[in-house]
Amino acid sequence: MRRFLLPLVLSLSLPGLPAPAEEAKTFDRIKVQAGQTLFEAECRRCHATDAKDPSYGPLLEGVVGRKAGTFDGYPYSEALKNAGFVWTRGALKAWMEDNDGLVPGTRMRHVGIADPTVQDFILAYLQSISQ
Ligand code: HEC
Repeated sequence: MRRFLLPLVLSLSLPGLPAPAEEAKTFDRIKVQAGQTLFEAECRRCHATDAKDPSYGPLLEGVVGRKAGTFDGYPYSEALKNAGFVWTRGALKAWMEDNDGLVPGTRMRHVGIADPTVQDFILAYLQSISQ
């Protein structure tokens, strides 16, 4: 009986298996969703991601690839205004881990997210709102 069942089960389930590219997309979507949840918990109380919303910190939509301290009209600290670097993935990770270590004198309170997986998820979310 099992000998007949196995091919049947395989023939039913195989065509439905996602192709590798689909799987990668699904994984990316899950990462972005997890990142959004973590962002809501860790960052959202100070940062909006939509220009329509009030935001105590600078708007983070489009932050990946933006020069630090340059979101139009935001009253940055002198430290961040003069930081002179671009928000790359590496810079954003270092910032999440130790923002006042990366830019001494910044007004952003220390968040201290040291877990690389959490950094990665939040980064995936920031990337998704930067395209
Ligand atoms: C308690 C409020 C607060 C929290 C929580 C917070 N931030 Fe900030 N953030 C700020 C403020 C204020 C600034 C502006 C700092 C300055 O001018 O020195 C800032 C600046 C930034 C910048 C620089 C943006 C630019 O335009 O140069 C990034 C990136 C950033 N925050 C990311 C995050 C992320 C990611 C989180 C969550 C892990 C987070 N922040 C949590 C208040 C906060």
